[in-house]
Amino acid sequence: MSLSQRDKAHNWHPYTQHKTASDFPAIVKGKGALLWDENGKEYIDAIASWWVNPFGHSNQVIADAIYEQLTTLEHVLFGGFTHNKAVELSEKLIEILPFNQQKIFYSDNGSTAVEVAIKVALQYNFNKDIKKTKIIAFEDAFHGDTFGAMAASGISFFTEAFKGSLLEVVRIPVPTAGNEEKTLKSLENLVKTNEFAAFIFEPLALGAAGMVMYSPKILEQLITVCKQNNVFTIADEVMTGFGKTGKNFACDYLVEKPDMMCLSKALTGGAIPMAITTFTQEIFDGFYDNDTNKALLHGHTFTANPTGCAAALASIFLLQTPEIQQNINKINQSHLAFESKIKSHPKIKTTRVLGVIFALEIKTDSQESYYGTMRNKLYNFFIENGIILRPVGNIVYILPPYVISKNQLEKVYQTIEKALEIV
Ligand SMILES: Cc1ncc(COP(=O)(O)O)c(C=O)c1O
Repeated sequence: MSLSQRDKAHNWHPYTQHKTASDFPAIVKGKGALLWDENGKEYIDAIASWWVNPFGHSNQVIADAIYEQLTTLEHVLFGGFTHNKAVELSEKLIEILPFNQQKIFYSDNGSTAVEVAIKVALQYNFNKDIKKTKIIAFEDAFHGDTFGAMAASGISFFTEAFKGSLLEVVRIPVPTAGNEEKTLKSLENLVKTNEFAAFIFEPLALGAAGMVMYSPKILEQLITVCKQNNVFTIADEVMTGFGKTGKNFACDYLVEKPDMMCLSKALTGGAIPMAITTFTQEIFDGFYDNDTNKALLHGHTFTANPTGCAAALASIFLLQTPEIQQNINKINQSHLAFESKIKSHPKIKTTRVLGVIFALEIKTDSQESYYGTMRNKLYNFFIENGIILRPVGNIVYILPPYVISKNQLEKVYQTIEKALEIV
């Protein structure tokens, strides 16, 4: 029996209706932007395995750092102890994060990074006897699948079953071009009520919504409104962090910085699950007290796992190399060239580019659902052609590893052009 067949006996995959799903390719090897399945078929990983893998699969620098750490100190509890890799990683992050971020809290994945931010926003107010129990988020946001993160997420298809059990979140429209005023007005009206602890957002690009983009200028205005009304701002950089937007962080495009940031995915170069929530000193001080009850009584077993921290340090080292910075720039230039070539295609509604992210929307007569017919047709076409792309409804996006070669990226573009012929 093949791995693909054996997989079906026990594995329950994410976001999968197993009754209608076909056999999944079993990947046995990865190098750079490429993956190979058990039959030797080659795939270009054009979405960096859900945006985690900028430096390529099986990266030697990260692998060496992990090996060294595993044979020195694989893990130690972070409750009551510390270790050199957590100290070094926090120091490194403080160096590259926006200047107002001063405190680092470790957890395991994007959702937990968001949970921590939301809990901190709520407890900060609780500690001061202020009644602010609601959160503001964008309509089409995605912040993860745990309860707090799910509540903040706006994609109802994913969260419908849990509607009655979620934290109270009020949504404002995404401020895409032309909608800025509407969003600003909605936010201004909400913050006036004094009921909101925080506004959480994916800065500049909403990933799971289909790389929906908006300008730094409007984000700056939204953050300013929150600051003026004592509502914390949480930038969820789980997708955008570590170079995706062309700068280290999407918030680097802003003068007005958020109060908290959520990081994960590319943090460890895709090698080890790990996440971080970062805070201003002011927020940390809201928990600093003689009273233990005022502490952040939250933690995870693998908090600040040394092996994860070593992988993250190696990843940040790679991110800062001139070679990777040039690659990010080259990918952006290629995307822009592809965009101007394809944007007037009769089947295309819109295109957009930010950093290494490219997205196009295909014209449709009907409302395309997340896993609709067009999406499945496109997905299968890409897989048959050895390209890993996961369209969102009628939106096709590319977010490649920074190490993708010119020829590999060209093949991705050509396959997208061919795909337009079958829809
Ligand atoms: C912006 C954003 N936040 C949070 C998450 C959740 O991360 P995780 O899947 O690691 O829990 C995601 C995942 O795609 C994301 O894109």
